Amino acid sequence: MYKITLIPGDGVGPEVIQALLYILEAVDLKLDYTMACAGNACFQDTGSTIPDETILKAKRSDATLFGAVTTVPGQKSAIITLRKELDLYANIRPVKSYLGTNCLYNDLDLVIVRENTEGLYSGIEEYTSDGATALRVITNDASEKICKFAFEYAEKNDRKKVTAIHKANVLKKTDGIFKDAFYRISNDFPKIHSEDKYVDAAAMFLITKPDNFDVIVTTNLFGDILSDEGAGLVGGLGMVPSANIGDNNALFEPVHGSAPDITGLRISNPSAMILSAVMMMDHLGETSEARKLENALLDVLNERKFLTPDLGGSSKTMEMAEEIRSKLI
Ligand code: NAI
Ligand code: MG
Repeated sequence: MYKITLIPGDGVGPEVIQALLYILEAVDLKLDYTMACAGNACFQDTGSTIPDETILKAKRSDATLFGAVTTVPGQKSAIITLRKELDLYANIRPVKSYLGTNCLYNDLDLVIVRENTEGLYSGIEEYTSDGATALRVITNDASEKICKFAFEYAEKNDRKKVTAIHKANVLKKTDGIFKDAFYRISNDFPKIHSEDKYVDAAAMFLITKPDNFDVIVTTNLFGDILSDEGAGLVGGLGMVPSANIGDNNALFEPVHGSAPDITGLRISNPSAMILSAVMMMDHLGETSEARKLENALLDVLNERKFLTPDLGGSSKTMEMAEEIRSKLI
């Protein structure tokens, strides 16, 4: 029995979580769910976007499944706070093409490992007399930790190359620290090829020659941007899952946000949420159930009969979920 905290959040978050739970009923795993709130609706109810109780529940569970939240300017970011409080220092974002999804490339399989606790998302921002300043915090410790994580991930998953992405030519000190940490750590992994690229060129190569990448390791903001770019290569934000991993906790969420433009229409693509649950099962060591769930989704994508509009279909979220579930029964 695994203790799972569920944080549906706002917008399409509750919709994709509902679809996932319906599908998980047909999976052969004992999951003990606890609901917790975060985000804007939570703020209206409790006065906090991320109540202490939610953080505590997430800390005490084997894994957390997070839908998406709407971030309102001036409010504390629920997901960034959770990542920090649980010290989920590694954000893994696989960019993989699945047939049937209008991908720009049919055989893409790369992974972005994003530093998740510092960089420009450190939350240190203040107004000045004529504008505002944000502090970009890069430490040796966090840089080494995330680079080590990326090389170990490459080793475990039989990948050949790790590329560090940075802008050390301009951000000489901060990204200098990151790049140096990367090459220090690379010495411990002689079998894996290591290279580095500037973020601007990498953003272009990700579109023109994505096959050149295998595992990417990068700082917080660059990882956020490049993973949405990656999503664009493989069928859009409805397709890309993520894992936030720390030494004691793990949280799984789609890369997308609350999608206010389609909220309430019940047409959100549940795939990214389902693939996040697949990552959770792999993390928990339940690899055979993970493959079953992934294959059920792949079958439905390949058949192209029950797809949401972002994938070129006309099905509702729950119609697609129903079809995926039927493959598991
Ligand atoms: P978004 O990811 O919510 O939406 C961008 C585009 O992708 C929209 O056109 C949306 O309809 C589409 N999309 C996203 N998920 C989809 C799905 N499952 N199925 C089909 N189409 C999907 O990003 P946006 O619009 O920039 O942000 C909306 C809100 O979400 C903001 O308040 C933002 O702060 C928040 N956000 C929250 C995140 C989180 O909870 N981790 C991550 C990113 C944004
Ligand atoms: Mg993002």
